[in-house]
Amino acid sequence: MKIRKYKSADLEQYVSVVRETYQKTNAREATRAGMDAFLSLLDVKTNRKRIEKVFQDSTYVGVAVEQKKIVGVVRIMHNLRNKDTKSYWLSNLFVLPSYHRHGVGGQLLQIAIDDVEKRGGREIKCMSSIYAIPFYTKYGFKKTTGVRNVGGKRVQPMRKSL
Ligand SMILES: CC(C)(COP(=O)(O)OP(=O)(O)OC[C@H]1O[C@@H](n2cnc3c(N)ncnc32)[C@H](O)[C@@H]1OP(=O)(O)O)[C@@H](O)C(=O)NCCC(=O)NCCS
Repeated sequence: MKIRKYKSADLEQYVSVVRETYQKTNAREATRAGMDAFLSLLDVKTNRKRIEKVFQDSTYVGVAVEQKKIVGVVRIMHNLRNKDTKSYWLSNLFVLPSYHRHGVGGQLLQIAIDDVEKRGGREIKCMSSIYAIPFYTKYGFKKTTGVRNVGGKRVQPMRKSL
């Protein structure tokens, strides 16, 4: 398995890793409407321009590749509430279910953290899925509030100091 930077030719595969993983792993955390809204944002046919812009606005986008197939993705960006702060958002971290618990997510997270540190970042925040709370806890993230409902999806806000 190799991790490399995202390139524009990866767009379709990147999006399908997120869609497939969310539907298979996180479905119980969302209402039907929440799931539909999430999937429609990730519809390449109708939303390609918006998706491309999100990648352009990100500070690091990485993909884990196994035999030419993308099996995991990570995306990180400045905390848009205040671009001047040293705060970053982990916006996507998804590994295809059949590759879970083989260290792919941990390696993707570490590469994203390394990139934030190189940029002088001092914290990473995320809206963890309920499923991923033990994973983020293992990597030093702490809960900052209780579970929240964001657009029909249950999420756990978490933060890691660097
Ligand atoms: C969260 C996710 C990215 C982790 O990816 P992964 O490749 O399975 O993670 P790793 O194999 O690197 O796991 C590292 C450690 O985290 C912990 N961990 C990972 N998944 C866990 C789980 N489901 N339950 C408990 N602990 C878990 C374990 O300590 C694990 O080490 P171990 O396997 O030696 O016990 C993956 O489960 C995923 O894509 N989930 C669905 C999407 C999601 O919820 N993403 C987060 C969105 S914010």
